[in-house]
Amino acid sequence: MCGIVGYVGPRTALPLLMAGLRRLEYRGYDSAGVALQKNGHLDVMRAEGKLDNLAAVVATHPSDGKTGIGHTRWATHGRPTEQNAHPHVDCTSATAVIHNGIIENFQELKAPLVAAGHKFSSETDTEVVVHLLEDELKTGKSLEDAALAVLPRLDGAAALVFISTTHPGTIVAARISNAGGVIVGHGKAENFVASDMTALLEHTRDMSFLEPGDLAVVTQKDVRFRRIEDGATVERAPKKIELDPVGAAKSGYKHFMAKEIAEQPRAISDTLLGRVDRTSGRVVFDADVKMTDDFVKALPRITFVACGTALHASLVGKYLIERLAKVPCDVEIASEYRYRDPVVSKGQLTIAVTQSGETADTLAAMNASRERGARLLTFCNVMGSEATRISDDVIYLHTGPEISVASTKAYTAMLVDLFLFAVYLAQRRGTIAANVAAQLLAEAFHLPTLIDAVLREEGKIRALAYRYTTAPNFLHLGRGVNYPTALEGALKLKELSYIHAEGTAAGEMKHGTNALIDKTLPVVAIALKDSVYKKMLSNIQEVRARAGIVIALATDGDTEIEQHADEIIRVPAVHELLSPVLAVLPLQLLAYHIADKRGNDVDQPRNLAKAVTVE
Ligand code: AGP
Repeated sequence: MCGIVGYVGPRTALPLLMAGLRRLEYRGYDSAGVALQKNGHLDVMRAEGKLDNLAAVVATHPSDGKTGIGHTRWATHGRPTEQNAHPHVDCTSATAVIHNGIIENFQELKAPLVAAGHKFSSETDTEVVVHLLEDELKTGKSLEDAALAVLPRLDGAAALVFISTTHPGTIVAARISNAGGVIVGHGKAENFVASDMTALLEHTRDMSFLEPGDLAVVTQKDVRFRRIEDGATVERAPKKIELDPVGAAKSGYKHFMAKEIAEQPRAISDTLLGRVDRTSGRVVFDADVKMTDDFVKALPRITFVACGTALHASLVGKYLIERLAKVPCDVEIASEYRYRDPVVSKGQLTIAVTQSGETADTLAAMNASRERGARLLTFCNVMGSEATRISDDVIYLHTGPEISVASTKAYTAMLVDLFLFAVYLAQRRGTIAANVAAQLLAEAFHLPTLIDAVLREEGKIRALAYRYTTAPNFLHLGRGVNYPTALEGALKLKELSYIHAEGTAAGEMKHGTNALIDKTLPVVAIALKDSVYKKMLSNIQEVRARAGIVIALATDGDTEIEQHADEIIRVPAVHELLSPVLAVLPLQLLAYHIADKRGNDVDQPRNLAKAVTVE
């Protein structure tokens, strides 16, 4: 989940690398570094902490090298210190490596190197690679052939990029495994590498994507691709990328998260755009969904695999699909699924839900399911990401880049896409009446207006949030289709504010969680006027009987709730199946304002990263 960038061409590389790292900082931000080729030696600069610290270092040691690599780190092996920051260099400081991923067998590779006299200066798994490379280069091999000799010896690994003074003007990049993509950007008389296309968009729209097992040799004049297993040359033709780099800027908001919350009316309009055929009234997905009628009608089962916020969206998806399309669904934590021996039913569909499309556990779970015969469908936001490339079918969220580590607009877009898919499946399977589908879809198209109405209440929610900034714990309660909303509200609060928060199915409280309730505990109760409203009121009574503080999320116009709650946040009435889209919005704002008031780094909370490309 580290960020990688590289440049070779006629321009001074350093400002380009720093600008690329700025765009990648969300991937990891506990240290950063650059290495540049300069007159037969390497200028290596690194700094602990955020990119600003590296910017201060490079400002005092400018380098005008024209070939360079840069890295922003999310620590796996070794503490987040300057010493462990990438790039790592060999004993002679002639060769440098940057890495995204984990080298699982680094200890066994390191021991003979140390015995042979190699000097290690970091605690990382990565450094072993550059010493292995040093030995191969000593035998007279080219940088690419030396890399081809070393890479098969690495277990795990993900993505690696090398430069060496022995080969001026050359960058070698490798993608070892599914996790950790590598992209080559083709410029005019200059070329780039990066872990993420957002780092390259301001320079080029022509990009080649390395497949697992590919190595790229990148010079100013050309780019070649080879297979790591046998060195054979392969073609990876560039694709034209149509993405708006300006969309990734903060646009005047204090944080990306604030911007992304505010963008939701527009983002959900984009997600809905073109998804219903006006003549037939049927949900349509584009050519990326290719399931046949026979497959859809015979579907025995759907298994969701996902992590974190995407897992919560999947839980809502299960509810929607079972209710509308009558297909039994399981929701699996991807990191658990991948290490079980999961049973896949004949003809089943496995659905991955992932904003980034690069989450290592989700990718591994997808592969485990595919190996056992499942068809793969991915709901994803990032075009061309790994999850989309390994899937049979893809449904995009169309919500624009999400930069803040805490997912907001991607979550609501997942909910809307999953709702559309549930109606789509129901229409194809004949389990929904035309008038019911029409009514549901009409309500869905009204969502942007309703979302806007909720977000207009931000001032009230901020005031409420400020009353609870010192609470040591929070409990979020939900039932039915809004049980996942309780999980998501608690996740948002803990990841941003560092306040311990737990999400619980309200019916489960009496089986243990009730013991936590006392007069210091704020309890967010999602109590909308739906099929489980009366049940939620009973659960709220249980909280009040134990002196807990009730913050009720209630439907506009519900007066009954007033006698049961200490605080009330209102959302407009909407069909129960669409209510999670509205219910989560105040919880996003609550978490945001508590965290901001506490002075936390909202966009980059401690110990987290946006794309979790390691397990
Ligand atoms: C949510 O706020 C988190 N950043 C996290 O739980 C995230 O949803 C999870 O890591 C999955 O990411 P993905 O959607 O990119 O696969």
